Amino acid sequence: MLERRAATTDYPYSKAMRDSEIVWDEATLQAFVKSPQSVVSGTRMAFGGLDDQKIDPLIDFLQSKHQTQPYAGLADVLTAYLRVAGDRTMSQA
Ligand code: HEM
Repeated sequence: MLERRAATTDYPYSKAMRDSEIVWDEATLQAFVKSPQSVVSGTRMAFGGLDDQKIDPLIDFLQSKHQTQPYAGLADVLTAYLRVAGDRTMSQA
């Protein structure tokens, strides 16, 4: 993921993400997970941002080749994800 240009995997990214011209590195990722909308205005990533103390361990996790340690902030990410997934389910009902 690091050193890869934004919106270049097989996923229907938002126009905002495709137009962003970001190449992910430590600095751009830190800023994006802290506040997705302020880095890519109009992104569909509905995740309000991580606390400062959770960002460094996340970057370490994404950089590690072997990923033997689980990422300690995972519970927060899952909670945010389930909140969004739950909202979608409700709005389709
Ligand atoms: C620590 C947690 C997370 C990290 C590090 C992260 C990171 C990223 C990154 C780097 C991208 C851009 C990908 C690319 O350029 O290929 C992205 C896109 C996206 N993420 Fe996340 N994300 C996280 C959590 C979440 C959560 C919880 C959700 C859902 C609630 C979410 C939904 C999305 C969506 C929908 C996109 C596409 C956005 C667009 O096209 O505008 N992410 N994420």
